[in-house]
Amino acid sequence: MTPWTRARRCLLCLMLFLMTGTLMFIFHNSSTELSWPWNIWRTYNNVTTEGCSVSTDQCFVAYPHEYHLIVDEPDRCWKENPFLVLIIPVAPHNREARDVIRNTWSKETTVLGRGVSHYFLLGLSKDGDESEVLKEQVLQESQRHHDILQSDFVDSYSNLTIKTMVMFEWLSSHCPKTSYAMKIDSDIFLNVHNLVDMLNKAPRHLYMTGRVARNAVVLRDPNSKWFLPVSAFAESVYPPYALGLGYVFSMDLPKRIQEASSHVPPVYIEDVYVGLCMRHLGISLTDPPQSDLFKQGMPYFKFGCYWTYGIATILQNSDQVQEVWEMYQTELQKGC
Ligand SMILES: *[C@@H]1O[C@H](CO)[C@@H](O)[C@H](O)[C@H]1NC(C)=O
Ligand SMILES: *[C@@H]1O[C@H](CO)[C@@H](O)[C@H](O)[C@H]1NC(C)=O
Repeated sequence: MTPWTRARRCLLCLMLFLMTGTLMFIFHNSSTELSWPWNIWRTYNNVTTEGCSVSTDQCFVAYPHEYHLIVDEPDRCWKENPFLVLIIPVAPHNREARDVIRNTWSKETTVLGRGVSHYFLLGLSKDGDESEVLKEQVLQESQRHHDILQSDFVDSYSNLTIKTMVMFEWLSSHCPKTSYAMKIDSDIFLNVHNLVDMLNKAPRHLYMTGRVARNAVVLRDPNSKWFLPVSAFAESVYPPYALGLGYVFSMDLPKRIQEASSHVPPVYIEDVYVGLCMRHLGISLTDPPQSDLFKQGMPYFKFGCYWTYGIATILQNSDQVQEVWEMYQTELQKGC
């Protein structure tokens, strides 16, 4: 081998090394930050069944305060008085997601000496034919687990603001001695231990945290999942809001947000709507103690004690929630 070939080989190795580094950097950022690949996905991912369309009036989802719970746990929360209540919005048919959550992160009811309980929040099935059978199954599931709240609005993506407001209504009327609640999506890995640890040091009043979006631009492209026409929301930038993947709040807020909602025009994007109510109330959102505790995805490469750090991470599906739960247990056993 001539020195020249050796030098070329070295150069090739160096280039490969740099390329790998760059790729790792992009993957890491794309999943934890709102950086370019994510934004492009957000803007151009054509999810036609979701989002709103002006022609069907879905951009103006009113919340008329007239829904009723058809499956409820009327006494459980005030009898148990948990420190923290987790509310998980999920579609009625998604039994799998509920079972996975019951067997993973929501299974411990005492964490760091604090009571934690969870409830699933459902609307009515969109599918008329299926709905009678499903209703019966949900009822049986409720009798078995006592963790289901079902309200009588149609469960759909563009009705999520209704779901969120039903959550605030239920919390303010059912959990008088609870300190905090969290709205958390069903495709999330939640580290309840770290959450309770953070809350032990958090303010008890007028407090809301999560991954706070600031200066988020209103998307005007009708093909975007988060499209909002000027007629529904005229400002070009949203006020700060905590991303819907999971936000935590002190229990003095549900009643206030509910009251504010009669003065804030409805927007179907539920987390934005909560942000609008918070602005109306003049309450600012709190950033979490470390900026990466609430993650919009996981990086491609994970090292060491990854799952024992952080609070909430968006995953792909329930299978992944189960997988990550097992990885988390392994990390704990290793002494992470
Ligand atoms: C999204 O869908 C619309 C039609 O609904 C189409 O005109 C547009 O080209 C699509 N955009 C992309 C990026 O696929
Ligand atoms: C939202 O819920 C209301 C009340 O159940 C229903 O009339 C409406 O069709 C739902 N909207 C969508 C888009 O599902």
